[in-house]
Amino acid sequence: MSKTAEPDLRYVANHLPKTADPYLALLSKAEVTRARDFHRSFPQYAVTPLADLRHMAEYLGVARVAVKDESWRFGLNSFKVLGGSYAIGRFLAQEMGRDISELPYSVLVSDGFIRELGSATFIAATDGNHGRGVAWTARELRQRCIVLMPKGTSASRFDNIAALGAEVSIEDGNYDDCVRMAIEMAPTYEHGVIVQDTSWPGYTDIPTWIMQGYGVMADEAAEQFGERPTHIFVQAGVGAMAGAVTGYFAGLYPDDPPRIVVVEPDTADCMFRGAVRGDGEPVTVTGDMPSIMAGLSCGEPCELGWDLFKNHATGFVSGADSFTVRGMRMLAGNFKDDPHVVSGESGAAGFGAFASIMLEEGLAPVREELCLGPDSKVLCFSTEGDTDPVRYKQIVWDGIDF
Ligand SMILES: Cc1ncc(COP(=O)(O)O)c(C=O)c1O
Repeated sequence: MSKTAEPDLRYVANHLPKTADPYLALLSKAEVTRARDFHRSFPQYAVTPLADLRHMAEYLGVARVAVKDESWRFGLNSFKVLGGSYAIGRFLAQEMGRDISELPYSVLVSDGFIRELGSATFIAATDGNHGRGVAWTARELRQRCIVLMPKGTSASRFDNIAALGAEVSIEDGNYDDCVRMAIEMAPTYEHGVIVQDTSWPGYTDIPTWIMQGYGVMADEAAEQFGERPTHIFVQAGVGAMAGAVTGYFAGLYPDDPPRIVVVEPDTADCMFRGAVRGDGEPVTVTGDMPSIMAGLSCGEPCELGWDLFKNHATGFVSGADSFTVRGMRMLAGNFKDDPHVVSGESGAAGFGAFASIMLEEGLAPVREELCLGPDSKVLCFSTEGDTDPVRYKQIVWDGIDF
């Protein structure tokens, strides 16, 4: 047990006012199955591993902890492509007046379909992973892709997207500024469409499809876990991914849902601050939001995710980079017989927060409030591998703390 005086994270329980819950049905098993059928048509599709960490569970004092390892997704090192590819599929189906079930991968990449469609331009703002998924899909479908990245983006994340043939730029603003630029840009291109992983009033179709695509990760994990998790720790940037996981599991276990904890860096903790304020209105965090958790450095909540959290999250965690660093190192240097998981800075946040709550003496009240103990069966999502390999090695191998 760690004896540091100051715990590296804070927890607030969800007492937000409930809403009519209009988005829950969008994440139903049936909707997510449609997305999974679409993904199954891709030659790159494979269920990613669920790492069941038996010795880790014993060490942390719970019955079970399993980590869904998204570093294996489509060879792209993160879960993100699940969202962008499905949204593009649904958008093209809508444009062409077809059902998504009529547009599997083999049709979408065919010369006949591309002739019928003409050209389209997919535009995305991204910290890295989302843009990589959109650029990858655009390349597969032989369409144009423009990607805007925030100030401070690492060279490797930029290069990964440029290598897929997208037109990439690093802008002098944060993630939310890049989203605004993408909105202005889209109408200036023929068949220009913003494929953005967050929703705002009037922009909900594409984010809904993106979340349904993310739901595939939750669907696989539920199948692999094979029983009802008692707790889920899931990290949030804009909250679309965590919203998808939350909605999916709330719908799957309507009578006895798992306790769901949403985890954010304290420099971009818009959900946490919204929960502290407590009136149900979203809170926006502005400025540079420095954190090694690049994928979570988003200060404006996705409307759909925020609504799902209000109705179904158990609580919110906000913390310094140290908790995800702990998660990265624990997953990399795992016990001998447990599977090892390469988990990047944003990827390890959910597991890192859970581990901190179990290990930090100062967080005992949070453990109690969340009823975490020997009967708990915990599910976490490692949403990326070493997407910034230089920094990953600095943290995990060299022991550098940022
Ligand atoms: C690796 C990783 N994990 C989690 C997230 C958070 O997803 P969301 O922005 O939907 O909350 C992101 C977002 O880019 C990410 O790249």
